[in-house]
Amino acid sequence: MYGLLNNKKGIIFGALNDRSIAWKVAQRAHEEGASIVLTNTPVSLRLGQIQSLAEACSAKVVAADATNMDDLARLVDESTEYFGGKIDFVLHSIGMSPNIRKSIPYEDTNYTFFQKTLDISAISFHKVMNVLYNRDVMARGGSIVALTYIAGERAFPGYGDMADAKAMLESVARNFGLKFARKCGVRVNTVSQSPTLTTAGEGVAGMSEMYRYADRFSPLGNASAEDCADYVVSLFSDLTRKVTMQNLYHDGGFSATGLTEEVLEAFSRGV
Ligand SMILES: NC(=O)c1ccc[n+]([C@@H]2O[C@H](COP(=O)([O-])OP(=O)(O)OC[C@H]3O[C@@H](n4cnc5c(N)ncnc54)[C@H](O)[C@@H]3O)[C@@H](O)[C@H]2O)c1
Repeated sequence: MYGLLNNKKGIIFGALNDRSIAWKVAQRAHEEGASIVLTNTPVSLRLGQIQSLAEACSAKVVAADATNMDDLARLVDESTEYFGGKIDFVLHSIGMSPNIRKSIPYEDTNYTFFQKTLDISAISFHKVMNVLYNRDVMARGGSIVALTYIAGERAFPGYGDMADAKAMLESVARNFGLKFARKCGVRVNTVSQSPTLTTAGEGVAGMSEMYRYADRFSPLGNASAEDCADYVVSLFSDLTRKVTMQNLYHDGGFSATGLTEEVLEAFSRGV
């Protein structure tokens, strides 16, 4: 442990169970000295295991639906009161597509569901930053991170309308990043993470195959949820103060690879 987040205070969205990427980030942020507020939807708080994480991290838990502006305002107000001051970091680790949940193919997308996908998985990031910005509660030099996937930039079968949501999420990070940088030196970035075996991840059709493919295709292998937590903690720390408005790949090299020797050999064997 390095004490990278000593005296820092942050809100973490999206810890559902001990496989969630947000869960690992909360654990690492706590180990690095941060004070934390954990938040998720009321139903996730009831069904998930967040209380045990809250006890382990000495964190406060506040229920909030990230698509609801009133919930977000209350969350931010309760958090600043709990911290006794401004917020240093925020993690948006939220994704859900009713179309994917109901196995509706991309070409038959249900548009009511599509709007929900966008609202939950992308516009919620705008809403969170809207509340933080207009209440002026981010500490100077703070850091805001959202999690994304490379399907926001390249076509992948099975990722459905979440791909469109991720493209929007990455754009929102850039555009709000410009505002936040000028206002109070706050950084806004997205982290493009490897396929990871979590509740949301396993909802994607063909996830097990995608996971194994990416693992073989990435020179360093897939990045785990624990690896992701290490990276996100570095982005919350003062060591990355000039990194903003970026989509940062945390994928073992997958995004920069054209072909690996292993895949070439597999094809030469006729696999
Ligand atoms: N698992 C992967 O392969 C992978 C890869 C790259 C990026 N990501 C991204 O990482 C993030 C976290 O996902 P995860 O893989 O840890 O899965 P997860 O299922 O553990 O987390 C998703 C979270 O979103 C929350 N959520 C859903 N609707 C919400 C709402 N209206 N308001 C607030 N919270 C809501 C859920 O309760 C859950 O905690 C997502 O943005 C996901 O797209 C995941």
